[in-house]
Amino acid sequence: MERILEKVRAKSEIPVYDKSVENVLSAILTTSDFWKIVDLSEEPLPLVADIIRVLEEEGLVKIGNGIEFTEKGNEFIKSYGIGKRDDSVCECCEGRGVSLKNYQDLLKKFKEIVKNRPMPKHEYDQGFVTPECTISRIALMNSRGDLFNKDVLVLGDDDLTSIALMLSNLPKRIVVVDIDDRLINFIKEVAEQLNYKNIEVITLDLRKPLPEKYSKAFDTFITDPPETVYAVKTFIGRGISALKGERRAGYFGITRRESSLDKWREIQRTLINDFNVVITDIIRNFNHYVNWGYEEETRAWKLSPIKKKPEDIWYKSYMFRIETLKDSRGFEDEVDVGDELYNDAESSTT
Ligand SMILES: [Fe+2]
Repeated sequence: MERILEKVRAKSEIPVYDKSVENVLSAILTTSDFWKIVDLSEEPLPLVADIIRVLEEEGLVKIGNGIEFTEKGNEFIKSYGIGKRDDSVCECCEGRGVSLKNYQDLLKKFKEIVKNRPMPKHEYDQGFVTPECTISRIALMNSRGDLFNKDVLVLGDDDLTSIALMLSNLPKRIVVVDIDDRLINFIKEVAEQLNYKNIEVITLDLRKPLPEKYSKAFDTFITDPPETVYAVKTFIGRGISALKGERRAGYFGITRRESSLDKWREIQRTLINDFNVVITDIIRNFNHYVNWGYEEETRAWKLSPIKKKPEDIWYKSYMFRIETLKDSRGFEDEVDVGDELYNDAESSTT
């Protein structure tokens, strides 16, 4: 094991522990598909790729159509007492912990409308979640008292959460900010079709601060930042600044696919120390991203030991809910970063 760790450390900037290797070994016992191994192991994709390379060098796995243990590999896992990963999530809610029973009509209408949605764009790191997931967000936010008669801010809206919000008729007012005119125009058209008046839609690069009038104007925000500490700070910080004050809520997704637990700790430090907010919920793999169509252009593709497109959803993120308290604060400055907003050593879908 120690030799494996040494060899991975020589290849990777991402912190590696024996638990990381164990997670990957367990996942390989369960599936031979690379994307599924990343999904099950819950280690950052570039690290999983490096671990698999080292396992191959050591003669423990062979890479053919899939990734499988050699005889030597089987002996190795036996000697370390490593078992299969049994990912038993609830079939009913897909592990989200909210029921869609009262939201079936909303789900149906939402699916119909988003059929003609603009497809994800690589340059903006876009990728959208399943309709069930978007509607579960509505159910979740409503269950926490963060939607009904509230002013809601959506910061970046590849998932078209704003459309689900309009259809739900729950919020008092919705404001949507996105960098992509195609999305903004689509949301505007839908608002017109629905004759929905309480929505404002603006095009803005979130490197820039929100317009003054949106400072301290909302009860709830939702965002899905790119997975860098920079982007998390900027997107979530802007959301917090836009909240009216104490006991207001923010929602966002953070993944394990592109973030090590070391990076998670950085992110949580930013939340606790810089923003002075409290984390009330972390729901594992709440967000399920539809495979975005530009896989072959991504770093993940380059790193994948097998050039085969994912068949199932593998990219998932945890849903965080934070709440503001006395002396919570956001972040309003303009940030002067280019590509670092989207990329670090652990990212792979850009
Ligand atoms: Fe469930």
